[in-house]
Amino acid sequence: MGHLHEFDQAFIQAPEHRPKLALSHADRIPTIDLSPIFNHSLPGSDVPHDLVHQIASACTEWGFFLVVNHGVPPEKRHRIEAAAREFFGQSLEEKRKVRRSQGLVTGYFDTELTKNVRDWKEVFDFMVEDPTIVPASPESDDDELTQWTNQWPEYPPEFREICEGYVEELEKLGHKLMELIATSLGLPAKRFGEYFKAGQTSSVRLNHYPLCPSPELALGVGRHKDPGVLTLLAQDDIGGLEVKRKKDGEWIQVKPVPDSYAVDVGDIIQVWSNEKYESVEHRATVNSKRDRYSIAFFFYPSHSTIVEPLEELIGPQNPPKYKPYSFGKFLANRKRSNFKKLNVDNIQISDFKISPANPN
Ligand code: OGA
Ligand code: NI
Repeated sequence: MGHLHEFDQAFIQAPEHRPKLALSHADRIPTIDLSPIFNHSLPGSDVPHDLVHQIASACTEWGFFLVVNHGVPPEKRHRIEAAAREFFGQSLEEKRKVRRSQGLVTGYFDTELTKNVRDWKEVFDFMVEDPTIVPASPESDDDELTQWTNQWPEYPPEFREICEGYVEELEKLGHKLMELIATSLGLPAKRFGEYFKAGQTSSVRLNHYPLCPSPELALGVGRHKDPGVLTLLAQDDIGGLEVKRKKDGEWIQVKPVPDSYAVDVGDIIQVWSNEKYESVEHRATVNSKRDRYSIAFFFYPSHSTIVEPLEELIGPQNPPKYKPYSFGKFLANRKRSNFKKLNVDNIQISDFKISPANPN
């Protein structure tokens, strides 16, 4: 197989997952203007009620929304976007100098290096905390820890500084959104802060979707849900991201809005809220005319977080729908299985779901 130049059988993804084209004017993906939180940031002042309401309905109806006037300085975003283009523009040989490998989960990989052969993409990953502390042995009960460290390319110069400068801003936005989400669930605004204090496990993925000669047969990223708390995605002006509308299961295109972020609710919010807010399925298409870039900030809590429905949100009428699970073990397990070309599915929150078929 050539390096994402020649189309190969291995890239074919199920045709029934192709998009339907019509996008009606009703049922549009919500766009939320965050400027009120910057205008109302006097100590003790409440978050505007209307904004909280918009967040609640977007999380309930879509599990997905766009944010504008979000406070991330555009120049920081433009710098990392330009740096990503320069990095991916290098030869495969150069890029593979920082390739991901067993035991080194960060850096570059293309689909040839993982079991996810079907995705038409190449990526560069880095952790927000360097090092990031995680469990050493995800499958056992022991408490031994290990570290994930970043690796940085020589080119472009200042790549590291640009990436680090960017995540500082995204973290701030992540916390602001979690304050709004907490408020919308009737919780104190800072309710979720504790989960990120002891060293978060957040990461960033620079995605590049090269030109694809058979775009109707492939996907840049196949349908999936994000396993963390929130994902904040910066997409360029090409378009290709699609979300599955809860109402009718239709795949809806997320039109690129300059400088906006696409926010998706991850599996952890689904568990914390005991399914009041559900995570959303999404995917990315590719095309044969223009290649596409996106930057995903995956907001993840500390490895020591035990994820379970929040006690404030459960009760006799609303018993917990999930068993507690260790996020660190979950994450380490997922990362590890990414390297093995195994035919087993990744661990999922459904493995912790309490149901008649899966009691206690
Ligand atoms: C992801 C993702 C979509 C995109 O990286 O998890 O969903 O449009 N990306 O790049
Ligand atoms: Ni995703």
